[in-house]
Amino acid sequence: MDGSNDRLDAFWMPFTAGRQFRAAPRMLTGAKGVHYTTEDGREILDGTGGLWCCNAGHGHREVADAVHEQLLRLDYAPAFQMGHPIAFDFARRIAGMAPEGLDHVFFSGSGSEAVETALKVALAYHKARGEGTRTRFIGRERAYHGVGFGGIAVGGIVNNRRHFAQIVGGVDHLPHTHAPEHNAFSRGQPAWGAHLAEDLERLVALHGAETIAAVIVEPVAGATGVLPPPVGYLERLREICTAHGILLIFDEVVTGFGRLGTPFAADYFGVTPDMMTLAKGITSGTVPMGATIVSGEIRRAFEQGPEHVIEFFHGYTYSGHPAACAAGMAIMDIYARDDVFARAAALAPHWQAAIHGLRDAPHVRDIRNLGLLGAVELEPRATGPGTRGYDVFVDAFHRGGLIRAAGDVMVLSPPLTISAAQVDELFAILRASLEAVA
Ligand SMILES: Cc1ncc(COP(=O)(O)O)c(C=O)c1O
Repeated sequence: MDGSNDRLDAFWMPFTAGRQFRAAPRMLTGAKGVHYTTEDGREILDGTGGLWCCNAGHGHREVADAVHEQLLRLDYAPAFQMGHPIAFDFARRIAGMAPEGLDHVFFSGSGSEAVETALKVALAYHKARGEGTRTRFIGRERAYHGVGFGGIAVGGIVNNRRHFAQIVGGVDHLPHTHAPEHNAFSRGQPAWGAHLAEDLERLVALHGAETIAAVIVEPVAGATGVLPPPVGYLERLREICTAHGILLIFDEVVTGFGRLGTPFAADYFGVTPDMMTLAKGITSGTVPMGATIVSGEIRRAFEQGPEHVIEFFHGYTYSGHPAACAAGMAIMDIYARDDVFARAAALAPHWQAAIHGLRDAPHVRDIRNLGLLGAVELEPRATGPGTRGYDVFVDAFHRGGLIRAAGDVMVLSPPLTISAAQVDELFAILRASLEAVA
């Protein structure tokens, strides 16, 4: 049925079954701390940090004030051949938090744009160094890198790829690392699977290293169901990339800014990529922003030509937007003031124990976690319309918990400011919903 509600007609909702939504809308009208409020005045515990992004929790007055003041002082300024101070200051701030050697920041407006930027930097970098044959990208099955054509092509989700991925040629994929026959109910990183990184050697042997520009992976795959990397896997990818002159890109759109209890997943795993893509937690979701952070070596490769020539024909109207930078600065202050990342690290063992407490709940066939990320994978229904995951999501919403369904995987990424008692409440809601839907 098409919804009869005219008010809901004009907004084409992203990744949503629009007719289903219009028939039974769920409206959020306010947010404070770790709770949303609904249009009918109910409180919903935010188990997803909005959409993996509100790491600092909701409704910080300091952020609103910083954006307000910035808009009154300088609401917008072009960043093409012009500068405004807060963009430089915020870039320095991000560079100062990033792993050693990653110190040049290209701003954009979203994670998807950050990914497109990284892929273009990789091609242009090799070209600038006289290795223009390096045009191939290696992504991974079950990866999500946003919805630009590049991100779709290196991504590994069939529904996103089906009609669009063929536009970008020269892309190959590593196997995903999810192997429930070996690592179901692993706590944290699975012990089994580091050897899956060796597939990169196979792709190098197949295509020739001199044709490969970059490998892009999420250190922990998020949107496809929270897949922590096997112990040793990222280290091995790093070694192989280094040995063959291939750039390694970590898509840290989800894992950046404290999700694993460290500033970045690169810090958590002790593996430094050549580039990172960032978004979401960079402003804690308050104002749209993406960023691609690269090494000095990459940046310098662009600065070899005549000084009057534009070094990289790329950029966005909103690159380094003053309001986004102001929001980001205020959010970084909150992360530092409240020691948000260390708090997340301290809470992670409780989170792990709590999520694995659902092992005996109906239809649970796997549970995964790392930092304050979690996934509860359900057995799919043999028959019937709709997924079990969607029904659990809707039931939990009515019980007062926001838990996202990625198909039949219930995924969680709460604000890092959530308390241990609220973690328990979240999993009590999820258990009740699993029982109700069963
Ligand atoms: C790992 C990863 N990369 C990129 C993106 C795309 O970000 P955006 O939705 O801001 O374009 C996402 C979004 O969820 C993501 O999880």
